[in-house]
Amino acid sequence: MDLSKLHILAFVPFLFCISLVHGWGIDGHLIICKIAQPRLSTKARHAVSELLPAYANNDLSQVCSWADRVKFRYHWSSPLHYIDTPDKLCTYDYKRDCKDEDGIQDRCVAGAINNYTTQLLRYGNNNDSSASQYNLTEALLFLSHFIGDIHQPLHVGFTSDRGGNTVDVRWYRRKEVLHHVWDNNIIETSEQRFYDSNIEELIDTLQHNLTTVWSNQTKAWEACSETACPDKYASEGIKAACEWAYKGVDEGSVLEDDYFLSRDPIVNLRLAQGGVRLAATLNRIFG
Ligand SMILES: *[C@@H]1O[C@H](CO)[C@@H](O)[C@H](O)[C@H]1NC(C)=O
Ligand SMILES: *[C@@H]1O[C@H](CO)[C@@H](O)[C@H](O)[C@H]1NC(C)=O
Ligand SMILES: *[C@@H]1O[C@H](CO)[C@@H](O)[C@H](O)[C@H]1NC(C)=O
Ligand SMILES: *[C@@H]1O[C@H](CO)[C@@H](O)[C@H](O)[C@H]1NC(C)=O
Ligand SMILES: *[C@@H]1O[C@H](CO)[C@@H](O)[C@H](O)[C@H]1NC(C)=O
Ligand SMILES: [Zn+2]
Repeated sequence: MDLSKLHILAFVPFLFCISLVHGWGIDGHLIICKIAQPRLSTKARHAVSELLPAYANNDLSQVCSWADRVKFRYHWSSPLHYIDTPDKLCTYDYKRDCKDEDGIQDRCVAGAINNYTTQLLRYGNNNDSSASQYNLTEALLFLSHFIGDIHQPLHVGFTSDRGGNTVDVRWYRRKEVLHHVWDNNIIETSEQRFYDSNIEELIDTLQHNLTTVWSNQTKAWEACSETACPDKYASEGIKAACEWAYKGVDEGSVLEDDYFLSRDPIVNLRLAQGGVRLAATLNRIFG
C-alpha cells in the first residue's frame, strides 16, 4: 500500500468540511432547508427521511441544490426555477405569467411547486395506480429547491432583463449581473462581514430571530388554505424585486454599502420565510 495515497485519503473527509461561500445558488438553498428540517412534524420527518437519497444522511440541506445540478441533464426543468412577469408592472398573475418561453401554461416555479406538491400527496398511497408514475425522491428535492427559488426576489422578475440576468452592475469592485447579486453576493458579503464566513452562525442567528423578532409573524407566513401557496410567495417576490432589487439600479450601477446594508435584511427575511414555508408545506403534505 502506497503511504502517500493513504494520506490523501485521510484528508478527503476534511475537504468536505470546509464551508465554501456560495450564495442562493448553494448557501441560500442550504440555509432554507436547514431552517425547515427541525420544524417538520413527526409524520413529515419520517416521510422525508424515507424519501431522501442515502447519500444525504437524512439531512435535507445536503440535496437542496440538486435541482440546479440537474438543470442541464433534465433540460425540461430549467424554466421551472423562475417566473417572468411583464416589465415594470410589479404584479404577478398565475394565468398571465406562469408559462415558459414557448407559452406553455404551468411551466414556471409556481406551477412546479403545485406539480410536485400533488405528486407528493400520493406518498404512502400504495394502492394508487398513479403512485408509481413519479419518482417521489425527485419530487421532494424539486419541491424543496423551488420553495427556495420562489423566495429569491429576482426569481420573480421582469421578462426583458430575465430577472436581472442582463443587468450589468458592479458589486463593490467586482463585475456581476444583478440577478447574481441576489442569488449570491448579498449572502456572501453578509457571511464574510458579520459571521466570520461561517454559514452556521448566520443560520443560528436566523433561527434565533424566528423565536424573537419574527415570532409573532411566523403563523401568518405559514397560513395557506390549500396544500401549497406559491402564488402568495410569487406576489411578494415581484413586489420585493421592484421595491428593493431593481430600485435605484441602472445598467452599470455600482452597488456598495448603501445597497448591501439596506437589502441584507430583505434577504434574511426571505430566507427565513422560505424555510418556515417549506416546513409548513411538507407538514401539510405528509400531515
Ligand atoms: C411535473 O413533474 C413531472 C415529473 O418530474 C415533469 O415531467 C413535468 O415537466 C412537471 N411539470 C411542471 C409544470 O412542473
Ligand atoms: C385498492 O383499490 C381497489 C380498487 O379501487 C379496491 O378494490 C381495493 O380494496 C383497494 N385495496 C386496498 C388495500 O385499499
Ligand atoms: C429516483 O430519483 C433519484 C434521484 O434522481 C434516483 O437516484 C433514483 O434511482 C430514482 N429512483 C427510481 C426508482 O427510479
Ligand atoms: C436578527 O434580528 C436583529 C434584531 O432585529 C437584527 O439586528 C439582525 O440583523 C437580524 N439578523 C438576521 C440574520 O436576521
Ligand atoms: C410583532 O411585534 C412587533 C413588536 O414586538 C410589532 O412591531 C409588529 O407590528 C408585530 N407584528 C405583527 C404581525 O403582529
Ligand atoms: Zn433554482
